[in-house]
Amino acid sequence: MPQTAHGSRRRALLVAALGATALSALPRGARAEAASLKIGIIGTGRIGGALAEHWAKAGHALMISSRHPEQLKPLAVRLGPQVSVGTPEEAATFGEVLLISVPYGALPQVGRDYAAQMRGKVVLETGNPFPNRDGAMADAARAKGTGVASAEFLPGVRLVRAFTCVPHTAVQGEAHRSGERIGVPLAADDAGALKVAEQLVRDAGFDPVAVGGLARAKDFDVGTAVFGRAMAARELRQALGLVR
Ligand SMILES: NC(=O)c1ccc[n+]([C@@H]2O[C@H](COP(=O)([O-])OP(=O)(O)OC[C@H]3O[C@@H](n4cnc5c(N)ncnc54)[C@H](OP(=O)(O)O)[C@@H]3O)[C@@H](O)[C@H]2O)c1
Repeated sequence: MPQTAHGSRRRALLVAALGATALSALPRGARAEAASLKIGIIGTGRIGGALAEHWAKAGHALMISSRHPEQLKPLAVRLGPQVSVGTPEEAATFGEVLLISVPYGALPQVGRDYAAQMRGKVVLETGNPFPNRDGAMADAARAKGTGVASAEFLPGVRLVRAFTCVPHTAVQGEAHRSGERIGVPLAADDAGALKVAEQLVRDAGFDPVAVGGLARAKDFDVGTAVFGRAMAARELRQALGLVR
């Protein structure tokens, strides 16, 4: 992929935010690569599939995954040569950054089964707990707040709650829209992970809105005034009390 000044700056920002350990873990060729990050996607459904498309267009190298990987081959072919297909475990191994976008009820199992592969990595997690789909754990997660609950299910990762409250139709169809872009609220305790997520939100065609630490994810959980809406970033900041 051609290296542009913008690409170099973007890569430098992402690498700085990922930290020296992640950089040294990359193969030499990948370190020299322009703005491309290696992103592993666990859960390539409506949200994960839409983000795969946006991030592939932005030049990132992706492994999309499924428990039935053969079903994703047509999508990978459509997205281009920098997109490969694997199992969730292979995607967790491949990514220097991971997206987890599975039904919330699957999060404890994902956290347990791929803990070794995910340890220390930046993980963007999109899940929302719905008791009718996810069972009683969803009530507990809602009571705690998803930032706190997801961190318990994903110990040892650099967690960011991201792409949780914009509907998939907007994630699919309103990326890079003209005028004010849709805001994507983010919550993270790790400043470097937040920076990576902010850049990936921009690369997907949206405007990042940093809300605060993981405990603040509650401010944009299911049932809040901003949930399920595609608000411009300015409107979102106002609704979340982030501007005076
Ligand atoms: N839809 C929305 O508008 C929206 C918006 C924001 C956030 N969310 C949240 O984001 C998450 C994903 O939503 P979605 O609408 O994209 O769901 P979806 O279309 O149903 O996709 C979920 C994907 O997760 C994979 N999956 C399920 N169980 C798994 C497991 N145990 N291990 C690995 N992969 C597993 C499935 O892939 P395979 O079956 O192929 O393995 C499926 O493709 C949900 O928690 C949802 O609440 C949804």
